[in-house]
Amino acid sequence: MPPQKVRPAALQRFLLSKQDCPLLLDHVIAAIRLYNRQSACLPRGVLLKRTILYTEVQGDRRIMGLMTGKRGIIFGVANDKSIAWGVAQQLHAEGAELAFTFLNGPLEKRVRPLAESLGSKIVLPCDVQQEEQLVAVFSELEKQWGKIDFVVHAVAFANREDLKNPFSQTSREGFQLALDVSAYSLVAVTRCAMPVLNEGGSIITMTYLGSVRTVPAYNVMGVAKAALESCVRYLAAELGEKGIRVNAVSAGPIKTLAASGIADFKEKLRIAEERSPLCRLVTQKDIGKASLYLLSDLASGVTGEVHYVDGGFNIAAG
Ligand SMILES: NC(=O)c1ccc[n+]([C@@H]2O[C@H](COP(=O)([O-])OP(=O)(O)OC[C@H]3O[C@@H](n4cnc5c(N)ncnc54)[C@H](O)[C@@H]3O)[C@@H](O)[C@H]2O)c1
Repeated sequence: MPPQKVRPAALQRFLLSKQDCPLLLDHVIAAIRLYNRQSACLPRGVLLKRTILYTEVQGDRRIMGLMTGKRGIIFGVANDKSIAWGVAQQLHAEGAELAFTFLNGPLEKRVRPLAESLGSKIVLPCDVQQEEQLVAVFSELEKQWGKIDFVVHAVAFANREDLKNPFSQTSREGFQLALDVSAYSLVAVTRCAMPVLNEGGSIITMTYLGSVRTVPAYNVMGVAKAALESCVRYLAAELGEKGIRVNAVSAGPIKTLAASGIADFKEKLRIAEERSPLCRLVTQKDIGKASLYLLSDLASGVTGEVHYVDGGFNIAAG
């Protein structure tokens, strides 16, 4: 009988019916590829057995995802282009249980279906400028879950004119608004989260290179990000003794709703792609994977850091 190849679809169905874990899919496919290439002359039965064995060994390692048994909340999903959504997907794929917030009614229509697609049952309104809404979010989490393990803060806002006009023309109100939503909110979120965060908990926020370099049109948001990064360090210093870590991910430019408010954003994308050592733009997935690392025990010794995920752009001089 001529050797037969393993049929990926059949094998996937078999394995997935045995163990309800979508992560296995990657391993199944990897295993099939491996065996189909290297063991072309093995009988189908042997091939199948070996493939299943290989997959189960790999699967066992991965069934206990990096975030299995961990619960946390994500602030900042507006739609499926949001960086926070990229983070949510990576966390979910590694077994985390997630809660989400949305800013207002129109955004709820987008956020709720996304959250539900990851099996999330807790989807709450929260304007981070409203202290009572923040308190309500964390008391609801306490009611439903007791304790949590992580917080993702991916929230920022500035008036459009303050991201266009010369920086010196920034109004007092515009300055306060940008700093309040984009920097102070991390302090407020952390304060409300502290009573429900487990020891070993992790908080991350999203920042940008405009905090330490002048970036055309980034203006008041650059100042807000500088404040945010400083907040990260002060919070990390304070929460370290409770075993809670606080870090920032400094993302390269990605086309999102928030980014659309920045003048000449297309040019920023072009320059980033041209000058990054990796010769490409970063994606939601890149940010999600680095965030996963910072939120998981893999980063158990890391706190107070600003971790660049920008294809290396920040090291390039010209
Ligand atoms: N897109 C980029 O190029 C880029 C690069 C580096 C850092 N970041 C940062 O990433 C984070 C997420 O932004 P994004 O690019 O995914 O855009 P986004 O528009 O998808 O997300 C911004 C989020 O902030 C929320 N928000 C604004 N005001 C709020 C308020 N008062 N209360 C609660 N939520 C509020 C919005 O609802 C939205 O969900 C921001 O901090 C942003 O500065 C973005």
